[in-house]
Amino acid sequence: MSQKKELRIGIAGLGVVGGGLLKLLEGPSPRVGGGRLKVVAVSARNRSRKRDVDISAYEWFDDPVDLAAKQDIDVLVELIGGSDGPAKKAVEIALKRGAHVVTANKALLAMHGEELAALSEETGGRILFEAAVGGGMPIVKAVKESLAGSLVYALSGILNGTCNYLLSEMETSGRKYEDVLADAQRLGYAEADPTMDVGGFDAAHKICILAAIAFRARPDFAHVGIEGVEAITLDDIRLAGKLGYRIKLVAKAERIGEAVSLHVRPALLAFDHPLASIMGSLNAALVDADPVGRLTFIGRGAGAGPTASAVAADLMDLLEGRGGPAFGAPLGELAPAARAQPEERGRFYMRLIVNDRPGVIAAVSDCLAKEKISIESFLQMPAAPDAPTVPIVLTTQPCARVALDAAAKRIESLEAVAAPPRIMPIEETDAHPHFWN
Ligand SMILES: NC(=O)c1ccc[n+]([C@@H]2O[C@H](COP(=O)([O-])OP(=O)(O)OC[C@H]3O[C@@H](n4cnc5c(N)ncnc54)[C@H](OP(=O)(O)O)[C@@H]3O)[C@@H](O)[C@H]2O)c1
Repeated sequence: MSQKKELRIGIAGLGVVGGGLLKLLEGPSPRVGGGRLKVVAVSARNRSRKRDVDISAYEWFDDPVDLAAKQDIDVLVELIGGSDGPAKKAVEIALKRGAHVVTANKALLAMHGEELAALSEETGGRILFEAAVGGGMPIVKAVKESLAGSLVYALSGILNGTCNYLLSEMETSGRKYEDVLADAQRLGYAEADPTMDVGGFDAAHKICILAAIAFRARPDFAHVGIEGVEAITLDDIRLAGKLGYRIKLVAKAERIGEAVSLHVRPALLAFDHPLASIMGSLNAALVDADPVGRLTFIGRGAGAGPTASAVAADLMDLLEGRGGPAFGAPLGELAPAARAQPEERGRFYMRLIVNDRPGVIAAVSDCLAKEKISIESFLQMPAAPDAPTVPIVLTTQPCARVALDAAAKRIESLEAVAAPPRIMPIEETDAHPHFWN
């Protein structure tokens, strides 16, 4: 790819990010590109919708696929969203004719990244997506380019601002999940249908993309273990806090032998863990790589300005003739998939709801002992007046997850136990052990 005099840009999607991008590119003195990033055409669902930006100077397309097919457009910027439908069709049409694509669409990349990368290799049209992971936090390019000289062992992050906001609010305000979510929806911090965020799917799309780049493997969304934040209670947050931990929705990809494990799930982080202090809607990522060591990225994972900034940076790369293969290496050099179900070992948190009667703790300890699991700490809160049940929590010494699951089955069958045990992993604070330095 060579440097261009200018790039002719078509933007499909003029919502939060598309509107932000127009504002960034088309101000009285453009802040990026020195006037060489030229928006020529736009598309959205509703032409007559009132928008914060003036779009009268651009050619309008009702259908983003027609915009993508427009021959004199060098780059399609896809900011519609969704893994299929018009976003996918438009991206395919643009790549098929050799045009470049810049997108913020993590769902599309996680589900169809491999076929889009193949199309890109076939025609020479590049596909760049810095904004798809971490919004304004520059993690995609960092892993793809700046860390190309190191071997990544583990990559973990807080990649969904909505979930982090909800958990932070629960902790600081002492209100329960449903109330905090309802407020977040009213204030526009959470979608009317919050499933993609609170169910862990959005973070799963992002870790799937990052893992593909970091571990040089084809994106493989089907193998991400996904658990959301819906079942986290105020008791969990309070009790974990008393034990010295904060609960976060952690997306993690980790090299285990020749395989890679991929998870999104709530986890306990000791207060001195680098991700534990990330509060509110911020995003963060922690990369352990050899020999570079541990790196921490923190930034705004969403919002018009930060996300538009990442999109504009990709456009600058195309303008300057940069921008390599979608996932950092040609598909032929990528391993078939970043999949693994290695046996998991570590320390865990278990929360139980029990009928408050003598002998319960001894019975629970006995179930754990039968699976050779040692308890690290145990905490019982005083029962509320007239409450028939009481929460108790414990943390384990390092053990195999399968053994803990077996113990949990035994515990669940105890007469005094009122609900299935809730298990969450404890993320260790120390860097991944495979370190050179
Ligand atoms: N919002 C963020 O902070 C953020 C951060 C990182 C990544 N992203 C990603 O960026 C993308 C866009 O997100 P957003 O928040 O900007 O979404 P949004 O505010 O909902 O905007 C979506 C835009 O797409 C248009 N659109 C929807 N369906 C269409 C169709 N069938 N044909 C043509 N246009 C259509 C809408 O048109 P109308 O305006 O006419 O309704 C709207 O302009 C998504 O992939 C999202 O995951 C967003």
